[in-house]
Amino acid sequence: MRQTPQKIFLPAIVILLSVSSFAQRNVFRPKEVWLDKSGNHIQAHGGGILKIGSTFYWYGEQRRQGLDPEYRYVSCYASKDLVNWTFRGDALKLSDPEGIGDTWVLERPKVFYNAGTRKFVMYMHLDGPRGPGEGGYRFARVGVALSDKAEGPFRYVRSFRPLGMESRDIGQFIDDDGSAYLIFEDRPNGFHIARLSADYLSVEKDVCLIKAPIEGGALVHYDGLYYVLGSALTGWKPNPNKYATATRLEGPWSEFRDIAPPSTNTYGSQSSMLLKIVGSRSTTVIFMGDVWKPETQWDSRYLWMPLEIGGGRMWLPEPVPWKLDIRTGEHLLLRETKAGRGKK
Ligand code: GAL
Repeated sequence: MRQTPQKIFLPAIVILLSVSSFAQRNVFRPKEVWLDKSGNHIQAHGGGILKIGSTFYWYGEQRRQGLDPEYRYVSCYASKDLVNWTFRGDALKLSDPEGIGDTWVLERPKVFYNAGTRKFVMYMHLDGPRGPGEGGYRFARVGVALSDKAEGPFRYVRSFRPLGMESRDIGQFIDDDGSAYLIFEDRPNGFHIARLSADYLSVEKDVCLIKAPIEGGALVHYDGLYYVLGSALTGWKPNPNKYATATRLEGPWSEFRDIAPPSTNTYGSQSSMLLKIVGSRSTTVIFMGDVWKPETQWDSRYLWMPLEIGGGRMWLPEPVPWKLDIRTGEHLLLRETKAGRGKK
């Protein structure tokens, strides 16, 4: 019997639709609203990623509307592919643990897993009270919280100044040999890369102090070189983020260079982490940045883009939608840009 055109086309349309919706679901869309699997705007600002087995956990500042103003929250999301995230709940809910005052802040949470103690160890920036400008950030300490499970609940342990120094923005770095480092910004002195103690509950040793006014610190080890990245100190306002390189964490570090055309102010974002995905065929290093909206923090966005990296050069391409094959480590930018190529 002859098939009518409808009978032939219908299955073809269904296949096309499902292929395209599959493709849609696996696309990173920098600066757009990023929804979790329940359809809510992902709230993991100033965050960090921890990989356990084949699962990625994304922790960050929970800033959804309607939160109890007495508490500060850290959210936890889980994903296998870095695009589709399931909200695993608020991993930490804390009420001013150090008596800082009503306007206390908890920022840039980062979680490490300690295989020896089998504990998840969360570091956070505790500060306040919030005064005019950055002058309000006088407490300048890290807080530590512990959990037996990735998604929490985390139990607050204590706060301290790492190595006795002021600490504001923090970052995390796990080297290829598994050693864990806390990156912290110490306004009077500079930018520290510091090794954690064996149980991760304290900061043991400064591996390097880079005397540069850099925050939003991030690090990656790629092809035999360390790349350190950070922003200038302009609060919520974006600025040209910069990077330096070294063959050893101890330095010496190169001079700092722009990661993107300075006029774009890092395309309106601020660095939060560098995430290295090593696959069977390639390695992709992802720039994870925050696009802050200080007046409507719940609407702050994310700018995640694969970096051009190698031979001592790191470059953030103009943001476009892109895809990542988590298995092979390969990425694909989905649109050519006018700028970009050649002029780096
Ligand atoms: C930024 C910092 C943010 C937040 C903000 C407050 O420089 O990276 O985490 O502290 O300042 O103004």
